Amino acid sequence: MKRIGLLCDGGDAPGINTAIRAVARASFEREYEVLGFIDGFKGLIENDVKIITKMSVSGILTVGGSILGISRFNPYKDPKYVEAIKENFKKNSLTLLVIIGDRDTITIAKKLSEEGVPSIVIPKTIDNDIYGTDYSIGFDTAVSVISSALDNLHATASAHHRLMVVETMGRETGWLALFGGVTGGADYIVIPEVPFTIEEIAAHIEKRKKEGKNFSIVVVAEGVVLPDEDRSTFEYDEFGHKVNAKRMVGYRLATKLENITHLKSRVMVLGYLQRGGVPTSADRLLATQLGVFTVDLVAKGIANVVVGVNKSELTTTPYEEAFDKIHMADTTYYELARIFF
Ligand code: F6P
Repeated sequence: MKRIGLLCDGGDAPGINTAIRAVARASFEREYEVLGFIDGFKGLIENDVKIITKMSVSGILTVGGSILGISRFNPYKDPKYVEAIKENFKKNSLTLLVIIGDRDTITIAKKLSEEGVPSIVIPKTIDNDIYGTDYSIGFDTAVSVISSALDNLHATASAHHRLMVVETMGRETGWLALFGGVTGGADYIVIPEVPFTIEEIAAHIEKRKKEGKNFSIVVVAEGVVLPDEDRSTFEYDEFGHKVNAKRMVGYRLATKLENITHLKSRVMVLGYLQRGGVPTSADRLLATQLGVFTVDLVAKGIANVVVGVNKSELTTTPYEEAFDKIHMADTTYYELARIFF
């Protein structure tokens, strides 16, 4: 009989609970056992574990967050953590780990697989930056949060003739700003994948003013680096990512644009609002498909892959191929967005 160790790693994203439910229910169909580790790798290290039952995954399809908790924790910062993981993996007689995680998870899972701890990663992140899948669990919900925020901000921006700068999350990528901006009617979108100058954004805002549009909404991805930004002041986390939440690129962009256009600016950093909430039906479907597919792979003895959906097909990508790559935003969507600026 197979026994799956389930845990969540990284930042939360809407649809994690849907994926937990899918892995559990598909496992029970096959009479596999599922052990859930609390707060990600921390739970595996401390053997903080609970048996997942049909009852424990009942009623969680639509609930944001994670019933198992989640943490951004790098076990490779101390060899004793890795030893504890290996020990608890054996102690619980696990067949493999199923980790609902992000890019950093793949790096950790790859290293663990090389030390005899097999796993499968189910991709979740609002950033949609995981290589090996067109979409990650949580992205669609976060996009819908951004587009409805833009719907509301349009009213204020237009009534007060303001320049609204809306900062989205997304780490090094512009997926959230791009999809949120297209679906929310942004007047300009600034993402890391597309080169820009402050002057060209300002010129665009002024052109809109001349055409009678005395307000503008500019959506900027948190990972954007402004042309004159001093990279030596960036703070990095334990995985080597810029700590974007503290950089507040939206504020600095707004000041620069206000100085040129003389439109009064206001800034809206959407922040963690994008990570919470009820998953959309698209995220629920994706989480359900990937969860069930993962258990099918367990049945076939397949491990050390990231599952994903590519052009509507369920796929696997070996850790070896995925771990050092970033799924950058598809700039053909930028061409689409540009038509409406
Ligand atoms: O990866 C998801 C994400 O929300 C990023 O968009 C953001 O940069 C980061 O997590 C914030 O991380 P934390 O929860 O550690 O502040």
